[in-house]
Amino acid sequence: MKSIKVGLLGLGTVGAGTFHVLRRNQAEIMRRAGRGIEISMVSVRNLEKAQPIIDGACELVGDSWLVVNNPDIDIVVELIGGTELTKELVLQAIANGKHVVTANKALLAIHGNEIFKAAQDKGVIVAFEAAVAGGIPIIKALREGLTANRIEWIAGIINGTTNFILSEMRDKGLDFATVLKQAQELGYAEADPTFDIEGVDAAHKATIMAAIAFGIPMQFDKAHIEGISKLEAIDINYAEQLGYRIKLLGITKRTAKGIELRVHPTLIPSKRLIANVEGAMNAVLVQGDAVGASLYYGKGAGAEPTASSVIADLVDITRLATADPEHRVPHLAFQPQSINQEVILPM
Ligand code: HSE
Repeated sequence: MKSIKVGLLGLGTVGAGTFHVLRRNQAEIMRRAGRGIEISMVSVRNLEKAQPIIDGACELVGDSWLVVNNPDIDIVVELIGGTELTKELVLQAIANGKHVVTANKALLAIHGNEIFKAAQDKGVIVAFEAAVAGGIPIIKALREGLTANRIEWIAGIINGTTNFILSEMRDKGLDFATVLKQAQELGYAEADPTFDIEGVDAAHKATIMAAIAFGIPMQFDKAHIEGISKLEAIDINYAEQLGYRIKLLGITKRTAKGIELRVHPTLIPSKRLIANVEGAMNAVLVQGDAVGASLYYGKGAGAEPTASSVIADLVDITRLATADPEHRVPHLAFQPQSINQEVILPM
């Protein structure tokens, strides 16, 4: 069977990671997907910088529209970030009948309702495992492994940069600015790091998890968001002395009045597992009525952990796209069930 053709938008940290992992584990991935997955075109801003990474393996272009409008491409992987141009590119890819994989949590939290509606109308898949908690397959866990459950709440450390900053400030006594610079050098931080520090990135991810867990539309605009920029070393040290750790949590919770959606620094007793999640690691705690509490832990940022999730989506889509369309289960489609479930502000 012919390989499925992938067009990659962007070759930054995650794009390059995806390219390398797909190449390195090609045979195994092909066996699992049932056919080859081939990156056939990549669009980048800086052709010269990208050439040594691609090394002639596929076509390299400077214009993303050439990828989304290329009739030979089956799946577009959007890894360029931002919300406005990417929205147009993704909608165009969908209109052209292409499946889309994205790691772009801001795009989905803000424009997800429109994007998923367009995908549903066109009968294509938009997959986004990499958009939440990097390498942790939390979207699949919520949608597949926990599908029998009524989810009660989710609480997660879902921003690696801020967890790294809080950990390093506590353990090494380093100051905020120094640790942020390290996080940027390690490729954890967003292009605009205020998104990390002010809790916006975590709120994007919590919005997506709320939509999946509770079957509601994306309602990022209603989230309560508070970051870590007002925290000082003294707060962290006092918390420690009192037997607590401070973590930036993204929380979404079912209540009698509606769904809570919030991000804020939280005091957690030091003995709890989630309080001991350090560095850029992420952890998501999910409370379901049947399973009880379950905890998902792993690398929430960085090239290859995020690539791991991007490729998982590529494999999923390849399997589904290869199946007889009559028997295709659109389990990756996002379909809000209870649109009257409004996000409410916490008391
Ligand atoms: N800036 C994000 C983080 C990257 O630090 O978690 C992964 O989404």
